[in-house]
Amino acid sequence: MKRVAQLSIVLLLILAVVAASGCTSSKGRKLVKEGYLTIGTEAEFAPFEVRLGDGSFYGFDIALGEAIAKELGLKVDYIDTDFAGIILSLNSGKFDIAMSAMTITEERKKSINFSDPYFDTGLSLAVPANSPVQKLDDLDGKIIGVQLGTTGDLYASSLKNVREIKRYPHAPDAFLDMKNGKVDAVINDDVVSKPIVAKDPNSFKIISGLLTIEQYGIAVPKDNEALLQKINAALKKIKEDGTYDNIYDQYIIHYSAE
Ligand code: ARG
Repeated sequence: MKRVAQLSIVLLLILAVVAASGCTSSKGRKLVKEGYLTIGTEAEFAPFEVRLGDGSFYGFDIALGEAIAKELGLKVDYIDTDFAGIILSLNSGKFDIAMSAMTITEERKKSINFSDPYFDTGLSLAVPANSPVQKLDDLDGKIIGVQLGTTGDLYASSLKNVREIKRYPHAPDAFLDMKNGKVDAVINDDVVSKPIVAKDPNSFKIISGLLTIEQYGIAVPKDNEALLQKINAALKKIKEDGTYDNIYDQYIIHYSAE
C-alpha cells in the first residue's frame, strides 16, 4: 500500500511538471522584443490613442497599456499600425497585443482572443450642425463616412438605402470630409466622436442615443493563452487598486446628455 502511495505521488509530480512545461511551450509565445510589451495601435483615435507633436503616444489605451506592462514587469513599446489590418499584423507577430479601442465582436473572436472588457461605449451618429437628419431612416440616399474596418463600417454597411459609404483609414478624416460637405453623416465610436463634435459645435452635432452597445477588449493571439491570463490578472488588479479610475478621469471627459 505504502509503495502504491509513493508511486502515485511520483506520478503526480511527473504530471505536474509536464503540465507546467506545456503551459510555457505550447500555450505561450516569445515577446516580440525581450523585456517589452509591444503593443499595436492605430493612433488617430483620441482620447484612446494619438501621437503628440514629438511622435510619442498618448491616451487612455496608452496609459492603460503602460500600467499593464508595469504589472507584468515589462517596459512598453507602441507600434502605429492600420486599423483594418491590425488583427493580421498581430497574428503575424508584429506586436504582442493590440490595444486600439477595439470592440469585442464574435467575428473577431474567431481569429484572436480578447481580454476581459475594459471600456463600455457604442456607436453614434454625427452629422453637420445644420443637418435635417434626426434618425437612422433620414440617412436614406445619404453619404456615410466611417473608419475602414471598424464596427462603424460594419454598421453603415448593413444600412439598406444609403447612397454611398466612404471608408477612411483614420476616423478624423471622415469628420474633415463632413466639414467640407462631402459626407452627410459619420458613424463612429461615441466616446471618440463626442470630443470632436464638442471642439467644433458650429460644424457638427451628435444625434442623441447610441446605435449599438459595445465593449473594448485587448487583442491577444490565440496561441498566447499564457499572456492572455497575465493581462486579465493585471487588468483586474488595475481596476481594483484605483489605477483604472485615475486613467479614466485623466483621459475621458464626461459630457452631459444633450
Ligand atoms: N471600436 C471600433 C472597432 O473596434 C473602432 C476602433 C478604431 N480604433 C482606432 N484606434 N482607430 O471597430
